[in-house]
Amino acid sequence: MVNAQTVSSSQTFTSVGPVPGPNHAARGATNPFNGDAAARQAGRDLFVRFNCYGCHGGHAGGGMGPSLRDEDWIYGRNDAQVFDSIAQGRANGMPAWGTLVQPAQIWQIVTYIESLRTADEPQPPT
Ligand code: HEC
Repeated sequence: MVNAQTVSSSQTFTSVGPVPGPNHAARGATNPFNGDAAARQAGRDLFVRFNCYGCHGGHAGGGMGPSLRDEDWIYGRNDAQVFDSIAQGRANGMPAWGTLVQPAQIWQIVTYIESLRTADEPQPPT
């Protein structure tokens, strides 16, 4: 494998971290990971890694951003609606993540959110 030191300056480096790209919209799609335990856990990890908890609380119970574990949904609770809230952002302070987080990862986060308050929730509040 060629490492960074030996690559000549005329060559293009592989970028590190998220690459800005087209935004994503679910357009009525259903979650390909529905009921998948590994996806739920991956979604939990992404929820922490992307600092969702900073606004929505450690277990998504709410903070500066609304609770994602109660019955009240501003923008709808079905798969595609939750996907779009994350991918496209929402007007009153929800950033758009669609250029930063891959669609498959967004679906994993959706899977995690849907497991909140159920017996399947990874790392539930104690
Ligand atoms: C800077 C603070 C902030 C961060 C970081 C943030 N959110 Fe939000 N989020 C908000 C706010 C505020 C709203 C409500 C927006 C509105 O009412 O228009 C919201 C709304 C949402 C909604 C829609 C809720 C509903 O009731 O319909 C979802 C889903 C959501 N966020 C998920 C996430 C996820 C997943 C992440 C991490 C990838 C995240 N948020 C990161 C502030 C944040």
